[in-house]
Amino acid sequence: MDIFSGPNADIRALFETHEAARFDLHKRRLNEQMVRVLKTIGYDVGFCKGRGQYLYDRQEVRYLDLLSGFGVFALGRNHHAIRAALKNVLDADLPNLVQMDVSTLAGILADRLLALVPHLDKAFFANSGAEAVEAAIKFARAATGRAGIAYCSHAFHGLTYGALSLNGDEVFRRGFEPLLPDCVCVPFNDLAALDRALSGRRIAAFVVEPIQGKGVTLPNEDYLKGVQDLCRRHETLFIADEIQTGIGRTGRFLASEHWDVEPDMVLLAKALSGGHVPVGAVLMRKWVHDKMFNRMDRAVVHGSTFAKNDLAMAAGIATLEVLKAERVTENAARTGDRLLRELSALKGNYELLKDVRGKGLMIGIEFGTPRSLKLKASWNLLETASKGLFCQLITIPLFKDHKILTQVSGHASHTVKLIPPLIITDEDCDWIVRAFDQVIADSHRAGAVWSLGKTLVDHAMRA
Ligand SMILES: Cc1ncc(COP(=O)(O)O)c(C=O)c1O
Repeated sequence: MDIFSGPNADIRALFETHEAARFDLHKRRLNEQMVRVLKTIGYDVGFCKGRGQYLYDRQEVRYLDLLSGFGVFALGRNHHAIRAALKNVLDADLPNLVQMDVSTLAGILADRLLALVPHLDKAFFANSGAEAVEAAIKFARAATGRAGIAYCSHAFHGLTYGALSLNGDEVFRRGFEPLLPDCVCVPFNDLAALDRALSGRRIAAFVVEPIQGKGVTLPNEDYLKGVQDLCRRHETLFIADEIQTGIGRTGRFLASEHWDVEPDMVLLAKALSGGHVPVGAVLMRKWVHDKMFNRMDRAVVHGSTFAKNDLAMAAGIATLEVLKAERVTENAARTGDRLLRELSALKGNYELLKDVRGKGLMIGIEFGTPRSLKLKASWNLLETASKGLFCQLITIPLFKDHKILTQVSGHASHTVKLIPPLIITDEDCDWIVRAFDQVIADSHRAGAVWSLGKTLVDHAMRA
């Protein structure tokens, strides 16, 4: 058969004829619980189109996406330059994945990434964030000859077994033990605890998110510098997991730059994909890399079949080009500052609103126990039914009434998290601040919002 002609899968037509059945298909063939969640919270609108920072439902109603596919759409959905780069690869008859050759595009992407992180020398590519974390664990063990890995309470590094062993949240770990041995949990922002954990000199690496995704927890001003000093003193590798915070998200290429540190390894994924082709990257010092790949017979001692594939590498190259050409990181810094300022200004008006924090376009909006007795009774009812349930009283009306897609930042969390595409405009910022103002105001009144609360309590009780 001639592979250059013959049957075509018309994916657009398939999408159109099947999209109305998506929830039934998922219920029967995939994760039924996800369908139940979406229907319960009213997110089952059936999105049909994505462009930039916007999603469109069946009625062509426009939604502002403050979730960006868990951070992959830094450049927005379906950016023309990423799409063009991918089409270009498909049309170029490139010698992809020869395996007994080395990839030209991987060489280019590695070179350009490392030019942006000049204190590091070598790159290793993987297919996802979790795979980058798995690779980092192996590099750290091979480089130091130590088995231990230290990680933080509330950390999230992915859900494969190595990455899960560094997860600081019981909900993800329970039921999957035993995990990787010799992994040690230390509280985030606690240098004394880290010092104690490292002083036995059995820890190969300390893996840390510069800003924790769960709760959008910022490091104390001296924390990451302190981490770097302790790691150097105890000859432990300092690994910054920038899978969520990297590629411009916080208003710098890496979040680590805000605190002027130079980690021994930097992990990237998510946004590097341009939102189209999964990719992960471990950037590291040459000596660390060369301890793993130290002899010819170990040239393939770690790797993965699809890593360095041309589509992923092209998506990465195009992403870096757009980031620079469209000054995307600068936009994240500017719109992020504006949102932080204007959302923080709401604090004085609302007793349920406790804190607004973040850097660039990674923002956490935290709610907490109100002072007035009437609100306190309703708050306690929700908390007793399910810790963190209050945030649904914010995210559900944001979605239903204001067409804004957000998330609660983790299990039992009181923080709503914003990680929008980094290309949002001033008009989008107006939309966000207006919507939060109204929804938070409503949550301070008896009525529709709290009756939604009672419905959610019923669901929580039944679950
Ligand atoms: C900080 C961090 N590390 C690692 C991961 C895992 O990435 P992936 O989902 O691509 O495996 C995530 C995903 O949310 C993350 O936020």
